[in-house]
Amino acid sequence: MGKPDPNASDWSDLDLLTVDEATERLDAEIAALTGELDALAGPERDAANRRLDLLVTARDRAAAGPRRPLYDATPERPAHVPAELVRDVDHVFGPDFLVDPFAAYRELRDRRVWWSPRHGGYWILTRAEDIRGAYQQPDLFSSASTGIPAHVQRKEKLYPLELDPPAHTAYRRVIAPLFAPKAVTARTAAIDATCAALVDEIAPRGRAEFLADFAEPFPTRIFTNILGLPVDEAPKFVAWNNKLLHSQDQPERRREAGIEINGYLRELIEARRAEPRDDVVSALLASEVDGRPIENDEIQNLCFLLFIAGLDTVTAALSWSFRFLALHPEHRRQIVDDPALIPSAVEELLRVHSFVNPARTVTRDAEFAGVQLREGDRVLLATALVAQDPDEFADEATVRFDRDANRHLAFGAGPHRCAGSHLARDELATALTLWHRQIPDYEIAAGETVTMHAGGVFGLDRLPLVWSA
Ligand code: HEM
Repeated sequence: MGKPDPNASDWSDLDLLTVDEATERLDAEIAALTGELDALAGPERDAANRRLDLLVTARDRAAAGPRRPLYDATPERPAHVPAELVRDVDHVFGPDFLVDPFAAYRELRDRRVWWSPRHGGYWILTRAEDIRGAYQQPDLFSSASTGIPAHVQRKEKLYPLELDPPAHTAYRRVIAPLFAPKAVTARTAAIDATCAALVDEIAPRGRAEFLADFAEPFPTRIFTNILGLPVDEAPKFVAWNNKLLHSQDQPERRREAGIEINGYLRELIEARRAEPRDDVVSALLASEVDGRPIENDEIQNLCFLLFIAGLDTVTAALSWSFRFLALHPEHRRQIVDDPALIPSAVEELLRVHSFVNPARTVTRDAEFAGVQLREGDRVLLATALVAQDPDEFADEATVRFDRDANRHLAFGAGPHRCAGSHLARDELATALTLWHRQIPDYEIAAGETVTMHAGGVFGLDRLPLVWSA
């Protein structure tokens, strides 16, 4: 046998703990910390309480996830679904998805398409060609309701995400210039400064809970900056984000968060209408839709989507990437030694952790991917399954920072392809560059637990890292 390839890492390297192991470890940590609490006072006690909250949230999620019955109305197999294509897959609450979602998807590759009875029933396409084809045919695969289960129950659709062309086009035109390469370049200095300030603060500590200390505040501070808000508003957005997007089992909490965010945005829009500034809301106020001035509630809707689309995703991308790098010193070494590799490392880390799971609704009866689809059927377009297709990527299971022509679909495809991809890439490359300049070596803290959530956006709940300061 030759020398092991330093790039080699099969999908099993992405493994996490089993749900039971995670729950058990978190329970032990919670018990130990609760025991210490009485002896603490002042800021130390506050810090311990904050950590306790995080641990309890992670434990509850790990423990409750796979057994949650909420969306579990299992329908009869419809007549047009062949019996051999029925498979009990649950990419939201399935224990396999809470342990290693990428490995769970890989298990599905032995067929071109599956039908799961979960969440009211949905098709899962497994081949890159079919998934890309579905993204590119909005007339057959409507975005009217993009999540499985459907997103936060809202009366109104999210613009432009839940609109099909031609209605989609008018709103897409409004937001596209705000996140085009030129607009992102204009924000590079602010992105660098925000990231540098966080890394400067964290580096001397020798440890971090990567999400709470970096992966959440970084994109959130950029977002508040883009909205023209002071940086001390960022924690409020982090809290709303967690309440809205990480409470899939608690519709009331999600609804409450939706109302709070909308109330906040409404006031912000009124304030900017009265006194415009150099920010996204003021730019939106000056724009037109179909030749008429845009209205306040349309701007509110667009900002709400930017909030949903632009924060959690970057946090997830950072968490998956840094988890991988913490576990793979040889990959980390490559970018420390040669920072010019970072842009292609960003693409490869996005490819292997393609974590967004959009869905579509079939608009008419049609044959697709070798099966008969019926109007109203729901279809999952998992971006991770594109990355795992050997017909799409040579050596698809190997993480290669020097991979050429990396045509992953982490940002989707077709008319809804991510409008924020330039911003996301800039944030990710900046984080990798500035972090590794100051913290080149780090690992997951021994004895600490990493847990995750599945669903529309696969992400980590916590990632405790340590290094020598
Ligand atoms: C690594 C981070 C990100 C990933 C992986 C990601 C991924 C995606 C994907 C897969 C879609 C397509 C959804 C669908 O087809 O239903 C999408 C749409 C979108 N994303 Fe991102 N995104 C990221 C960051 C961002 C950021 C930072 C913004 C903020 C500006 C953003 C704004 C949007 C918008 C506005 C849409 C809807 C576009 C449309 O419907 O035309 N995203 N994103």
